[in-house]
Amino acid sequence: MQLVQTPEWRALQEHATKLRDIHLRDLFAADPDRFAKFSLVEWNLLFDYSRQRVTSETLSLLVSLARARGLRERIDSMFSGEKINTTEHRAVLHTALRNRSDRPVFVDGHDVMPEVRANLDRMRNFVEGVHSGRIQGHTGKTFTDIVNIGIGGSDLGIVMATEALAKFRNHNIRLHCVSNIDGVQLGDTLEKVDPARTLFVVCSKTFTTLETLTNAKIARQWVVDRLGEGAPARHFAAVSTNAKAMDAFLIPPQNRFTMWDWVGGRYSVWSAVGLSVALALGMDQFELILEGGYEMDEHFRTAAFEKNLPVLMGLLGIWNRNFLGMDSLAVLPYDQRLHRFPAYLQQLEMESNGKGVTLEGEAVSYDTCGVIWGEPGSNAQHSFFQLLHQGTANVSLDFIAPVNASSPYQEQQNLALANCFAQVQAFAFGQTEEMVRQDLASKGLKEEDIKRLVPHKLHPGNRPSTIILFRRLGPRTLGRLIALYEHKVLVQSAVWGINAFDQWGVELGKKLAESLVPLVQHPDGQKVDASVGALLRYVAAWRQ
Ligand code: F6P
Repeated sequence: MQLVQTPEWRALQEHATKLRDIHLRDLFAADPDRFAKFSLVEWNLLFDYSRQRVTSETLSLLVSLARARGLRERIDSMFSGEKINTTEHRAVLHTALRNRSDRPVFVDGHDVMPEVRANLDRMRNFVEGVHSGRIQGHTGKTFTDIVNIGIGGSDLGIVMATEALAKFRNHNIRLHCVSNIDGVQLGDTLEKVDPARTLFVVCSKTFTTLETLTNAKIARQWVVDRLGEGAPARHFAAVSTNAKAMDAFLIPPQNRFTMWDWVGGRYSVWSAVGLSVALALGMDQFELILEGGYEMDEHFRTAAFEKNLPVLMGLLGIWNRNFLGMDSLAVLPYDQRLHRFPAYLQQLEMESNGKGVTLEGEAVSYDTCGVIWGEPGSNAQHSFFQLLHQGTANVSLDFIAPVNASSPYQEQQNLALANCFAQVQAFAFGQTEEMVRQDLASKGLKEEDIKRLVPHKLHPGNRPSTIILFRRLGPRTLGRLIALYEHKVLVQSAVWGINAFDQWGVELGKKLAESLVPLVQHPDGQKVDASVGALLRYVAAWRQ
């Protein structure tokens, strides 16, 4: 039966017609216990969803939907290594990478945990070798700069986590991340670093990605030109599932780190893809991130749906998207250290659940993942918040904030929090005509001016938001946060009945780009379709 025809979906639709016109002001006025009812604390993390446009009935209907869609079975299937990525016939086991228990995890009847632990030991040995100076460059100098070369899941998590945890960095190591194809990041980085003291980590699950291989080859030549033919063996490490390609790139065995096809790129920061994170922060900090992820896994696996953070988060997202018509989700961290967290979530959520067919291959007749975007507050308040307050777009909001500063200036974090809470309030309750009138009258405005200004100063409010508040931003908390959103993705994919673990849409672009490379390099006289042909003529004419 199509999702939209199920009794659970229909019940939610009917419920939504009743709730759609009820304002958050009324929901709070009707229930002074709303905060207690619609918030949860796990560890040091408060998940306050009292400003979502829900009632207890909404939640029980959503939980019924999740049950009817087989969420429990889906969670168990993922954790137990079933091949739930059906189009690629793969298990989905990023949770095994952070499994801190002694429970085995089987893929095709084989326990993968010994390999996972062995890989972590190898990472530790390598990281400590670089930090202690035991592992050195070609000329016998210690490493001061690490350049991670990778893109998408082989870059975004590394950038996000090392920015988030900058406070915990090893002060003798600088990390640079190069991802983009256009050469700007690579050029800028190579200008800054000393070849004798630079270690490149080529990070690519497939080791076939054009951007990564292009950047890696140019970096390799740069090392050869400066230190000689034999130097790359000491200046390059790699993380990949593709041993043959690492052979071809002449990565020596001691500098190779493996990953497995049961780890999706966008879920891979927990694997050896995190090598650059560990090099920047130290292996102990990296393992604390894993601990945090594991804690969230245990919670997700065992907590009742009604008290389960990722389940609630996923279901609230479904409610907003499919029943209240929200087009996008803005993620708003009130901590500059989390400035790449929205970008990280863009790949995680949109690459996972940006799908238009069900697991059975039928076109969906409902919306799946909306657009995820965001910037840190309070910067964002001074750019796009106007649209959120008074514009016509339907956007739900995730506020994320630590109570204690990530800087030495707690007073400034207090101001950030005051701003965050003020926004949360304004989005929920808005500003009514009566409030605007009172305000303008108190300033001595004449009735005709008040009348003219009222429509411009009205704030409708009723914008649904969640606030995730925690004690401070550290590795464990970051691990919990990442895993929270990862499992949210699983919850939503289960309800929508889609595969969250493939990305065929990205593959098409990759293929087309490859076929266009020679044409852009030599644009003269090429026969291509009319649209690209016209662009190529400009390239030929304008290239200096
Ligand atoms: O962007 C598409 C994608 O396939 C992502 O899923 C992946 O994270 C990225 O490319 C990089 O792939 P790889 O790690 O194989 O270089």
